[in-house]
Amino acid sequence: MPALSLTELQRRVEGVNGLPSLPAVLLPVLNQLSGHTDDIDLHKTVELVSHDSSLTSQVLHMANSPLFGMQQRIESLRGAALALGVRRLRDIVTSCCLMQVSPRGGEMDAASLWEHSLACALVTRNLARRLGYPDIERAYLAGLVHDLGILVNMILIPKEFAQAYKKAAAEHRPLRDVEQEVLGLSHDITGDLLATHWHLFDYLSEVMRRHHDVEHATEDPMLVALVCIADQLCRTSDLGYGYTEEISFSIEQEPAWNIVTEHSSHARELDLVCFTLEIEAYVNEVRGLVSVLFRV
Ligand SMILES: [Fe+2]
Ligand SMILES: [Fe+2]
Repeated sequence: MPALSLTELQRRVEGVNGLPSLPAVLLPVLNQLSGHTDDIDLHKTVELVSHDSSLTSQVLHMANSPLFGMQQRIESLRGAALALGVRRLRDIVTSCCLMQVSPRGGEMDAASLWEHSLACALVTRNLARRLGYPDIERAYLAGLVHDLGILVNMILIPKEFAQAYKKAAAEHRPLRDVEQEVLGLSHDITGDLLATHWHLFDYLSEVMRRHHDVEHATEDPMLVALVCIADQLCRTSDLGYGYTEEISFSIEQEPAWNIVTEHSSHARELDLVCFTLEIEAYVNEVRGLVSVLFRV
Protein backbone atom coordinates (compact mmCIF):
# COMPACT_ATOMS: atom_id res chain seq x y z
CA MET A 1 0.00 0.00 0.00
CA PRO A 2 1.45 3.42 -0.88
CA ALA A 3 2.15 5.60 2.13
CA LEU A 4 -0.42 8.31 2.73
CA SER A 5 0.92 11.80 2.46
CA LEU A 6 0.41 14.19 5.32
CA THR A 7 -0.90 16.78 2.86
CA GLU A 8 -3.60 14.37 1.67
CA LEU A 9 -4.59 13.62 5.23
CA GLN A 10 -4.64 17.32 6.07
CA ARG A 11 -6.98 17.79 3.10
CA ARG A 12 -9.28 15.08 4.46
CA VAL A 13 -9.24 16.62 7.94
CA GLU A 14 -10.42 19.91 6.53
CA GLY A 15 -12.89 18.38 4.06
CA VAL A 16 -16.66 18.47 4.48
CA ASN A 17 -16.75 14.79 5.36
CA GLY A 18 -13.65 15.05 7.47
CA LEU A 19 -13.40 14.97 11.21
CA PRO A 20 -16.36 15.33 13.51
CA SER A 21 -16.57 18.70 15.18
CA LEU A 22 -15.75 19.03 18.84
CA PRO A 23 -18.82 17.90 20.81
CA ALA A 24 -20.91 21.08 21.26
CA VAL A 25 -20.99 21.08 25.03
CA LEU A 26 -17.28 20.41 25.47
CA LEU A 27 -15.70 23.73 24.56
CA PRO A 28 -17.88 25.87 26.83
CA VAL A 29 -17.40 23.36 29.65
CA LEU A 30 -13.62 23.35 29.20
CA ASN A 31 -13.57 27.15 29.03
CA GLN A 32 -15.90 27.47 31.97
CA LEU A 33 -13.78 25.14 34.06
CA SER A 34 -10.32 26.20 32.91
CA GLY A 35 -10.11 29.24 35.17
CA HIS A 36 -9.46 29.36 38.90
CA THR A 37 -11.89 27.39 41.05
CA ASP A 38 -13.19 30.63 42.57
CA ASP A 39 -14.24 31.93 39.14
CA ILE A 40 -16.22 28.88 38.17
CA ASP A 41 -19.96 29.31 37.89
CA LEU A 42 -21.16 25.93 39.04
CA HIS A 43 -24.74 26.60 38.05
CA LYS A 44 -23.72 27.47 34.49
CA THR A 45 -21.59 24.33 34.14
CA VAL A 46 -24.37 22.09 35.40
CA GLU A 47 -26.83 23.82 33.06
CA LEU A 48 -24.56 23.31 30.04
CA VAL A 49 -24.37 19.57 30.65
CA SER A 50 -28.00 19.10 31.65
CA HIS A 51 -29.23 20.11 28.17
CA ASP A 52 -28.02 16.72 26.95
CA SER A 53 -29.88 13.93 28.75
CA SER A 54 -27.71 11.11 27.43
CA LEU A 55 -24.58 12.99 28.51
CA THR A 56 -26.12 13.66 31.92
CA SER A 57 -26.86 10.00 32.37
CA GLN A 58 -23.32 9.00 31.34
CA VAL A 59 -21.80 11.58 33.69
CA LEU A 60 -23.82 10.22 36.61
CA HIS A 61 -22.79 6.63 35.83
CA MET A 62 -19.18 7.64 35.77
CA ALA A 63 -19.41 9.82 38.88
CA ASN A 64 -20.75 6.79 40.76
CA SER A 65 -17.95 4.48 39.63
CA PRO A 66 -15.52 3.29 42.33
CA LEU A 67 -12.78 4.58 40.00
CA PHE A 68 -13.72 8.08 41.10
CA GLY A 69 -13.73 7.07 44.74
CA MET A 70 -17.22 8.10 45.85
CA GLN A 71 -18.73 6.42 48.91
CA GLN A 72 -22.26 7.85 48.58
CA ARG A 73 -24.55 7.55 45.60
CA ILE A 74 -24.69 10.70 43.46
CA GLU A 75 -28.13 11.43 42.04
CA SER A 76 -27.72 14.77 40.24
CA LEU A 77 -25.17 16.82 38.31
CA ARG A 78 -25.21 19.43 41.03
CA GLY A 79 -24.61 16.69 43.61
CA ALA A 80 -21.72 15.40 41.47
CA ALA A 81 -20.14 18.84 41.28
CA LEU A 82 -20.44 19.34 45.02
CA ALA A 83 -19.20 15.86 45.95
CA LEU A 84 -16.39 15.52 43.40
CA GLY A 85 -15.40 19.15 42.88
CA VAL A 86 -15.77 21.04 39.64
CA ARG A 87 -12.43 19.99 38.20
CA ARG A 88 -13.16 16.31 38.56
CA LEU A 89 -16.61 16.94 37.13
CA ARG A 90 -14.86 18.47 34.12
CA ASP A 91 -12.77 15.30 33.74
CA ILE A 92 -15.90 13.18 33.76
CA VAL A 93 -17.84 15.43 31.36
CA THR A 94 -14.86 15.53 28.98
CA SER A 95 -14.50 11.74 29.08
CA CYS A 96 -18.20 11.22 28.31
CA CYS A 97 -18.25 13.87 25.54
CA LEU A 98 -15.23 12.37 23.80
CA MET A 99 -16.64 8.86 24.01
CA GLN A 100 -19.62 10.10 22.01
CA VAL A 101 -17.22 10.61 19.08
CA SER A 102 -16.80 6.91 18.44
CA PRO A 103 -16.99 5.28 15.04
CA ARG A 104 -18.78 1.92 15.07
CA GLY A 105 -18.09 -1.20 13.08
CA GLY A 106 -14.40 -0.86 12.22
CA GLU A 107 -11.67 -3.45 12.65
CA MET A 108 -10.73 -1.91 15.99
CA ASP A 109 -13.51 -1.71 18.56
CA ALA A 110 -13.87 1.90 19.76
CA ALA A 111 -14.63 0.55 23.26
CA SER A 112 -11.05 -0.82 23.41
CA LEU A 113 -9.67 2.60 22.60
CA TRP A 114 -11.75 4.18 25.37
CA GLU A 115 -10.83 1.48 27.89
CA HIS A 116 -7.19 2.24 27.16
CA SER A 117 -7.69 6.02 27.20
CA LEU A 118 -9.69 6.05 30.42
CA ALA A 119 -7.22 3.73 32.14
CA CYS A 120 -4.36 5.90 30.92
CA ALA A 121 -6.10 9.03 32.26
CA LEU A 122 -6.51 7.45 35.70
CA VAL A 123 -2.95 6.09 35.79
CA THR A 124 -1.44 9.41 34.61
CA ARG A 125 -3.37 11.26 37.31
CA ASN A 126 -2.30 8.75 39.95
CA LEU A 127 1.36 9.00 38.89
CA ALA A 128 1.10 12.80 38.81
CA ARG A 129 -0.24 12.90 42.35
CA ARG A 130 2.48 10.59 43.71
CA LEU A 131 5.28 12.36 41.90
CA GLY A 132 4.22 15.85 42.91
CA TYR A 133 3.21 17.10 39.45
CA PRO A 134 1.38 20.35 40.23
CA ASP A 135 -1.87 19.86 38.25
CA ILE A 136 -3.34 16.39 38.55
CA GLU A 137 -6.50 17.22 36.59
CA ARG A 138 -4.36 18.39 33.67
CA ALA A 139 -2.64 15.00 33.93
CA TYR A 140 -6.01 13.23 33.70
CA LEU A 141 -7.00 15.15 30.55
CA ALA A 142 -3.62 14.48 28.96
CA GLY A 143 -3.94 10.73 29.53
CA LEU A 144 -7.48 10.78 28.21
CA VAL A 145 -6.69 12.47 24.89
CA HIS A 146 -3.20 11.14 24.14
CA ASP A 147 -4.36 8.59 21.52
CA LEU A 148 -7.14 10.60 19.84
CA GLY A 149 -5.12 10.29 16.64
CA ILE A 150 -6.29 6.66 16.53
CA LEU A 151 -9.86 7.96 16.34
CA VAL A 152 -8.80 10.19 13.44
CA ASN A 153 -7.36 7.18 11.62
CA MET A 154 -10.48 5.12 12.26
CA ILE A 155 -12.67 7.88 10.80
CA LEU A 156 -10.58 9.31 7.96
CA ILE A 157 -8.66 6.31 6.66
CA PRO A 158 -10.79 3.35 7.85
CA LYS A 159 -9.61 0.78 5.29
CA GLU A 160 -5.94 1.61 5.57
CA PHE A 161 -6.10 1.78 9.36
CA ALA A 162 -7.97 -1.55 9.54
CA GLN A 163 -5.08 -3.23 7.70
CA ALA A 164 -2.54 -1.74 10.07
CA TYR A 165 -4.59 -2.71 13.14
CA LYS A 166 -5.12 -6.27 11.90
CA LYS A 167 -1.42 -6.73 11.27
CA ALA A 168 -0.44 -5.25 14.65
CA ALA A 169 -2.92 -7.53 16.46
CA ALA A 170 -1.85 -10.64 14.51
CA GLU A 171 1.83 -9.95 15.18
CA HIS A 172 1.29 -8.69 18.76
CA ARG A 173 3.27 -5.56 17.94
CA PRO A 174 2.91 -1.93 19.05
CA LEU A 175 0.24 -0.24 16.94
CA ARG A 176 2.31 2.85 16.32
CA ASP A 177 5.18 0.88 14.75
CA VAL A 178 2.83 -0.97 12.40
CA GLU A 179 0.94 2.22 11.47
CA GLN A 180 4.26 3.74 10.50
CA GLU A 181 5.11 0.68 8.42
CA VAL A 182 1.73 0.26 6.70
CA LEU A 183 0.44 3.85 6.49
CA GLY A 184 3.65 5.83 6.45
CA LEU A 185 2.34 7.90 9.37
CA SER A 186 1.07 7.19 12.84
CA HIS A 187 -1.62 8.33 15.27
CA ASP A 188 0.67 10.80 17.03
CA ILE A 189 0.89 12.80 13.78
CA THR A 190 -2.84 12.60 13.08
CA GLY A 191 -3.58 13.41 16.74
CA ASP A 192 -1.68 16.63 16.27
CA LEU A 193 -3.89 17.48 13.26
CA LEU A 194 -6.98 16.92 15.40
CA ALA A 195 -5.63 19.05 18.25
CA THR A 196 -5.14 21.92 15.81
CA HIS A 197 -8.56 21.36 14.24
CA TRP A 198 -10.26 21.39 17.66
CA HIS A 199 -8.09 24.25 19.02
CA LEU A 200 -7.10 22.19 22.05
CA PHE A 201 -4.75 23.61 24.67
CA ASP A 202 -1.05 23.54 23.64
CA TYR A 203 -0.11 21.14 26.43
CA LEU A 204 -2.68 18.63 25.15
CA SER A 205 -1.55 18.88 21.53
CA GLU A 206 2.02 18.30 22.66
CA VAL A 207 0.99 15.16 24.54
CA MET A 208 -0.89 13.89 21.47
CA ARG A 209 2.13 14.58 19.25
CA ARG A 210 4.98 13.51 21.51
CA HIS A 211 3.81 10.67 23.78
CA HIS A 212 5.90 8.17 21.76
CA ASP A 213 8.72 10.64 21.33
CA VAL A 214 9.14 12.22 24.75
CA GLU A 215 12.62 13.56 24.22
CA HIS A 216 11.27 16.15 21.79
CA ALA A 217 8.71 17.60 24.22
CA THR A 218 9.34 21.24 25.08
CA GLU A 219 6.07 22.71 26.43
CA ASP A 220 5.61 20.34 29.40
CA PRO A 221 8.10 17.42 29.20
CA MET A 222 7.15 16.04 32.63
CA LEU A 223 3.50 15.74 31.57
CA VAL A 224 4.41 14.01 28.29
CA ALA A 225 6.70 11.65 30.20
CA LEU A 226 3.96 10.77 32.71
CA VAL A 227 1.56 9.94 29.87
CA CYS A 228 4.23 7.90 28.08
CA ILE A 229 4.81 5.78 31.19
CA ALA A 230 1.08 5.40 31.92
CA ASP A 231 0.50 4.39 28.28
CA GLN A 232 3.06 1.60 28.45
CA LEU A 233 1.94 0.41 31.88
CA CYS A 234 -1.65 0.13 30.61
CA ARG A 235 -0.58 -1.67 27.44
CA THR A 236 1.34 -4.25 29.48
CA SER A 237 -1.55 -4.63 31.97
CA ASP A 238 -4.23 -5.81 29.54
CA LEU A 239 -5.60 -2.29 29.05
CA GLY A 240 -4.12 -1.77 25.60
CA TYR A 241 -5.80 -1.66 22.21
CA GLY A 242 -7.84 -4.87 22.38
CA TYR A 243 -4.98 -7.31 21.76
CA THR A 244 -1.92 -8.46 23.66
CA GLU A 245 1.37 -6.80 22.78
CA GLU A 246 4.63 -8.60 23.14
CA ILE A 247 6.67 -5.71 24.43
CA SER A 248 9.39 -5.74 26.98
CA PHE A 249 9.08 -2.70 29.17
CA SER A 250 11.14 -1.68 32.14
CA ILE A 251 10.28 1.75 33.46
CA GLU A 252 13.79 2.55 34.66
CA GLN A 253 15.18 2.03 31.15
CA GLU A 254 12.74 4.48 29.56
CA PRO A 255 13.79 7.98 28.42
CA ALA A 256 10.47 9.13 29.96
CA TRP A 257 11.63 7.91 33.37
CA ASN A 258 14.81 10.00 33.07
CA ILE A 259 12.65 13.06 32.50
CA VAL A 260 10.47 12.17 35.48
CA THR A 261 13.48 11.70 37.78
CA GLU A 262 14.89 15.04 36.64
CA HIS A 263 11.63 16.81 37.51
CA SER A 264 10.49 14.95 40.61
CA SER A 265 12.33 14.31 43.87
CA HIS A 266 9.66 11.68 44.71
CA ALA A 267 10.45 9.45 41.73
CA ARG A 268 12.94 7.24 43.54
CA GLU A 269 10.47 6.62 46.38
CA LEU A 270 7.82 5.18 44.06
CA ASP A 271 7.39 1.42 44.49
CA LEU A 272 7.02 0.47 40.84
CA VAL A 273 6.03 -3.14 41.51
CA CYS A 274 3.16 -2.11 43.83
CA PHE A 275 2.11 0.60 41.40
CA THR A 276 1.88 -1.91 38.54
CA LEU A 277 -0.23 -4.24 40.70
CA GLU A 278 -2.60 -1.35 41.46
CA ILE A 279 -3.16 -0.82 37.75
CA GLU A 280 -4.15 -4.44 37.34
CA ALA A 281 -6.92 -3.80 39.85
CA TYR A 282 -8.38 -1.18 37.44
CA VAL A 283 -8.88 -3.63 34.58
CA ASN A 284 -12.35 -4.93 35.40
CA GLU A 285 -13.65 -1.59 36.70
CA VAL A 286 -12.55 0.27 33.58
CA ARG A 287 -14.00 -2.37 31.25
CA GLY A 288 -17.31 -2.42 33.14
CA LEU A 289 -17.57 1.36 33.12
CA VAL A 290 -16.82 1.75 29.41
CA SER A 291 -19.29 -0.95 28.49
CA VAL A 292 -22.03 0.78 30.53
CA LEU A 293 -21.19 4.16 28.99
CA PHE A 294 -21.42 2.70 25.50
CA ARG A 295 -24.90 1.38 26.24
CA VAL A 296 -26.32 4.62 27.75
FE1 LIG B 1 -0.15 6.32 21.26
FE1 LIG C 1 -1.83 4.87 24.26
